[in-house]
Amino acid sequence: MAFSSRPVQQGVTPRRAAADSGSLSNADPAPRLMPDQHAAAILLAAGKGTRMKSRLPKVMHRIAGRTLVGHVLASLAPLGLARAVVVIAPGMDDVAAEVAPHPTAFQTEQLGTGHAARCARGALAGFQGDVLVVFGDTPFVATETFTRMLARRRQADNPAVVVLGMRPADSSAYGRLVLGTDGMLQRIVEHKDATEAERAIGLCNSGVMAIDGAALWPLLERVGNDNAKGEYYLTDIVALARSDGRLCAVVEAPEAELLGINSRVELAAAEKLFQDAMRRRVMEEGATLIDPGSVFFAADTRIGRDVVIGPNVQFGPGVEIADEVEILGFCHIVGARIEKGAIVGPFARLRPGSVIGEKAHVGNFVELKKTELGAGAKANHLSYLGDAHIGTKANIGAGTITCNYDGFNKTRTTIGAGAFIGSDTSLVAPVTVGEGAIIGAGSVITRDVAADALAIARGEQVEKPGWARRFRDKHKGKKD
Ligand code: UD1
Ligand code: MG
Repeated sequence: MAFSSRPVQQGVTPRRAAADSGSLSNADPAPRLMPDQHAAAILLAAGKGTRMKSRLPKVMHRIAGRTLVGHVLASLAPLGLARAVVVIAPGMDDVAAEVAPHPTAFQTEQLGTGHAARCARGALAGFQGDVLVVFGDTPFVATETFTRMLARRRQADNPAVVVLGMRPADSSAYGRLVLGTDGMLQRIVEHKDATEAERAIGLCNSGVMAIDGAALWPLLERVGNDNAKGEYYLTDIVALARSDGRLCAVVEAPEAELLGINSRVELAAAEKLFQDAMRRRVMEEGATLIDPGSVFFAADTRIGRDVVIGPNVQFGPGVEIADEVEILGFCHIVGARIEKGAIVGPFARLRPGSVIGEKAHVGNFVELKKTELGAGAKANHLSYLGDAHIGTKANIGAGTITCNYDGFNKTRTTIGAGAFIGSDTSLVAPVTVGEGAIIGAGSVITRDVAADALAIARGEQVEKPGWARRFRDKHKGKKD
């Protein structure tokens, strides 16, 4: 399946600068095509998506950690469009924030797709080129498909509208594409308005269109709402363009690419398809997944070569893994960068802002948050390391905790290169342990420790010879 997002790349170099994502944001580091400043997009997202039964607008639901609308923008990004306007309903501030800096346009009443597209007119004022209309709830359309549509739009026969068609197994939810004897598109008829003969047509409207910008607004003005749903159908522009003597064309894509999300069940099915495609791609690009079906990626996860990932690992957004990293089973990793040759897990949790240096080790039941673990450093057992910088080759003993939060403020812990933190140490931040220092096990460190010093901060051991025996003798007979 040709998913548009580029979830992974070969040989990811850690510390790489921000993604080369074209002129649209919210994108993976996809190879940028020649910027197409002669095309713009209208992304329709004003529908409430009542079948999701959710407080959230439908397009804010996520697949592989990325919102549906984020997926669409990510596929558009490599095109380098002049503009992408997102049509939303009033109150959808979360969608506006999600798509920023792309402009939004409001559709105050949901009067149909044609009406929604018309609402973008102000935001596209002055734009002359081709206009892609895409749906916010159809997340997997490939960049290459948009490119094919725009290329078809620009062919010599100059079609006014190019419609993305598909042949779904079950066509009952879709408009049908009615072709003329010349094979060109004549009109689109919605399922509810279609005759039996029209319903027998297998070729359906995916919803995506590439439209001649010069014709778009005059066509939309003429769309009426005399139909089964009483809505202004975008699809009517095809017949209107034909009546003006213009041609309309169809470009086809596989159904799987055009999957629309209407319910939680469909969301889960789409998640599964996406994950399967990511797993395949990660393996094709040189990583080993011991049990692929139990590894879950985010849409932007970047994995290097010769990475080995054990079973039951989950990646949230913002993870970059360099070559030759080993992730053992049962890890949960979000917003982290793991550099070459590091070993993580089993049962490790890396939270946002974690950077695991080259050949560093993070072991079982270790949690990191906003913490850099230097190259070759080790935190192998049962630790919480938050808001910390840990120098190269430092050794963090079992049970070490950075006490970074006093209920109000977060403060930092700095551990120098080569320092040795004994087991069960509490580091009460803000605190610095100098390079090469050693902390005795069980210490509660509240003051800075100089480089190469030994610090021990625990109750002194007291020993009373024979005390235990005398104690037992005294209590003899009290217990069987
Ligand atoms: C639409 C097409 C149909 C096609 C199908 C593919 C029309 C008239 N019909 O039907 O031919 O087969 O998609 O999935 O275009 N939206 C708004 N404002 C509105 C109405 C819709 O923003 O007033 C947005 C929705 O949020 C959604 C998109 O437009 O993202 C599609 O709307 P939807 O109601 O799902 O259209 P369909 O009836 O599925
Ligand atoms: Mg729909």
